[in-house]
Amino acid sequence: MYNYRELGLVNTREMFQKAYKEQYAVPAFNFISIEQYNAIIDAAAEKRSPVILLASPNLHKQLGYEMVARVVQAGTDRLKNMDMEIPVALHLDHGMSFEQCVAAVENGFSSVMIDGSALPFEENIALTKRVVEYAHERDVTVEGELGVLSGAEEEGDENRGESSYTDPAMVEEFVKRTGVDCLAVSVGTCHGLVKLKVNDDGTLPELRYDLIEDMQKRLPGFPLVLHGASTIRPEWVDMINQYGGKVEQAVGIPEEQIEKAVKMAVCKVNIASDGWICALANTRRILAENPGAIDSRVFTLKNRPILKELYEHKIEIMGSQQKY
Ligand code: 13P
Repeated sequence: MYNYRELGLVNTREMFQKAYKEQYAVPAFNFISIEQYNAIIDAAAEKRSPVILLASPNLHKQLGYEMVARVVQAGTDRLKNMDMEIPVALHLDHGMSFEQCVAAVENGFSSVMIDGSALPFEENIALTKRVVEYAHERDVTVEGELGVLSGAEEEGDENRGESSYTDPAMVEEFVKRTGVDCLAVSVGTCHGLVKLKVNDDGTLPELRYDLIEDMQKRLPGFPLVLHGASTIRPEWVDMINQYGGKVEQAVGIPEEQIEKAVKMAVCKVNIASDGWICALANTRRILAENPGAIDSRVFTLKNRPILKELYEHKIEIMGSQQKY
């Protein structure tokens, strides 16, 4: 059992208030390896950016909550030793049940997501409200989700089928009835590597800024969350394919679209896939270039600065640099 404050963490409330007021988003990065985690902390320190560490229930299966908490604490200690007052939150990404949220909070998470988006509206409200009541008693913040983002979130996840845009009138009712601190909405992003359907003239569709604007008018000051916001750089997809992989299709969200959304009510942007494919592409390349390697450090050590550069770039896109 841990309290998140013992781990050097904060909840997301004040982070979002500042981000909303100053029109940027707090970057939220999924991590699945120690070098990826170290690269996130390196980048946040270099850029003096707040950061939200995203750990999914699958990370718990891989490492266990205890290990996740310990690893995270090592990073926040490193910031403290550098005299860096950078706020760091540890957030359960896509918690699917009340019990998963409780387990995360008991193990030091400072923020949880309860994803009831596949449930009927009233059931989503009831589940989210239950998590909010439990979490707020412990000063932990809660993210809900309304509207469906298609695509698989992680290796092995099921693709959730067609996306459906979030209805702003339902957002207003959902937020008022549940008391959530922020809400993931579906406005044109999507999980996985194929996020957009290219228009017949070769251009890419735009995010639905009109929906974001409508939500902002109905709930002034309320932070929205963009999931599925990776750019999916073609050079990494090409590198994966060049070194033996087989990724046939990939279309990400153009960075200009994210830059525009963070100046509106979007205060948290989730990035997982860009980190996965960056690490994987470079791992494949490094292994091909070092056929005699007998130790995984041949790629883990080299991947850390490459990942750091990626996360620094993402911080710039979200406008969260030099905020602390
Ligand atoms: P990407 O797959 O676009 O990185 O989205 C990640 C995400 O939303 C995790 O919750």
